[in-house]
Amino acid sequence: MGSEKEKIGMIGIGYVGLVTATCLAELGNRVVCMDIDAVKIESLKNGEIPIFEPGLAELIEKNRERLDFTAALEDVFKQCEIVFIAVDTPPTFTGDADLSRVFAVMSSLPGMPDGHHILVMKSTVPVGTGGKISGELNRQKIGSIDYVSNPEFLREGSAIGDFLNPDRIVIGSQAPEAGEKVARLYRKLDKPILMTGLATAEMIKYASNAFLATKISFINEIANVCDEIGADVSVVAEGMGYDQRIGDSFLNAGIGFGGSCFPKDVTALKQIAGNSGYHFQLLTAVIEVNELQKRRVVNKLKKHLGTLTDKTIALLGLAFKPNTNDLREASSIVLASRLLGDGAYVKAYDPVAIPDAARAVRGVLLCDDVLSAVDGSDAAVLVTEWDEFAELPLAEMKQRMRHPLIIDGRNFLDPDKIRAAGFTYEGIGR
Ligand SMILES: NC(=O)c1ccc[n+]([C@@H]2O[C@H](COP(=O)([O-])OP(=O)(O)OC[C@H]3O[C@@H](n4cnc5c(N)ncnc54)[C@H](O)[C@@H]3O)[C@@H](O)[C@H]2O)c1
Repeated sequence: MGSEKEKIGMIGIGYVGLVTATCLAELGNRVVCMDIDAVKIESLKNGEIPIFEPGLAELIEKNRERLDFTAALEDVFKQCEIVFIAVDTPPTFTGDADLSRVFAVMSSLPGMPDGHHILVMKSTVPVGTGGKISGELNRQKIGSIDYVSNPEFLREGSAIGDFLNPDRIVIGSQAPEAGEKVARLYRKLDKPILMTGLATAEMIKYASNAFLATKISFINEIANVCDEIGADVSVVAEGMGYDQRIGDSFLNAGIGFGGSCFPKDVTALKQIAGNSGYHFQLLTAVIEVNELQKRRVVNKLKKHLGTLTDKTIALLGLAFKPNTNDLREASSIVLASRLLGDGAYVKAYDPVAIPDAARAVRGVLLCDDVLSAVDGSDAAVLVTEWDEFAELPLAEMKQRMRHPLIIDGRNFLDPDKIRAAGFTYEGIGR
């Protein structure tokens, strides 16, 4: 690599881009971070971190000398041979992945400084995208550019640990030398690196997320049966998890999966299959079960309260999972709108997502703490299993609530403790 291109580029500084750039800096690289959101870039330059991710602010501070922030794409291509793309690929109304941001980056390439570049796709893109982009790059003869697929498996809330201690690294490439250069960035981690073709790398990402989502919908259906027959899904899951062929992860029953990845990736894989002429029946069921699961709490509330009109329901947690402020596709949003649709008043508290919630969930009274949220409420629903909810101020809650009912949407609380405090407790399948 020439000395003038010794840095690594990162285009799209969101959850994935910022964590990846910071971790690559932690591994000793100098990284140029570019985003079209100039306000975000300015705040990053001023040391403000736009997302909540445990440990990220400290790691950015530690590696500040190795991280540059810019809103100009040419700054990246001038200084970097290896350029990661981590822009968002949200779902379109059909469920296909929207690649407009990826294509926006691609269409700016002809104006970029010359030299050899390796474009590394971190964004989750439909199977076949890499092949098409590589073909187009060859056809248009835009400089000397190799394309590598390097899907990301980090989870928000534990993203730094996931990046620095991954189960595996997947690198798909038609150009072995380019693939090897990207692999070299990860060698220090001493983890399995799987070198594959482009389509296979892309498929590994979708298949992994779809499988995990399937596990969640599966245990949620088991929970629903447990509700009917009086078995306890938590113990069922524990018993299943001891079986090494099954494993104990992703067997927590609850009110469904959300977030920026599972819902969109499962739907996108269903669409990818459908577009190629194959009807992926299992995924259709996984999606449907998940949608119904988000609404099950409404029936549980009605069972205890009758009509929800003019009742006040407190939601504890709004983020799609703990340790993130991300509300994309969060179960809380569907639940809140269902409750509002049934005529209930909805109050909510989340330890970190309240500022973002003002935009995402309309009509909900956002509160500063648990007690303000449950004040005058007919029921509290635990939606996100934040650590601080493990020690709820039960005595004060009981005094403040109109009706002592707690629905535990994540099977996170201790039922005996809640009941001993004078509440009616209901979990999901326990
Ligand atoms: N969030 C996750 O947990 C996660 C995990 C694995 C994979 N992924 C995948 O990684 C990709 C990024 O996800 P994310 O959650 O980080 O998204 P995000 O929305 O948090 O961030 C995307 C960033 O890209 C920027 N951007 C958009 N168009 C741009 C352009 N033309 N040029 C420069 N910047 C541009 C946006 O301003 C934003 O800052 C997606 O494809 C997602 O599916 C996400």
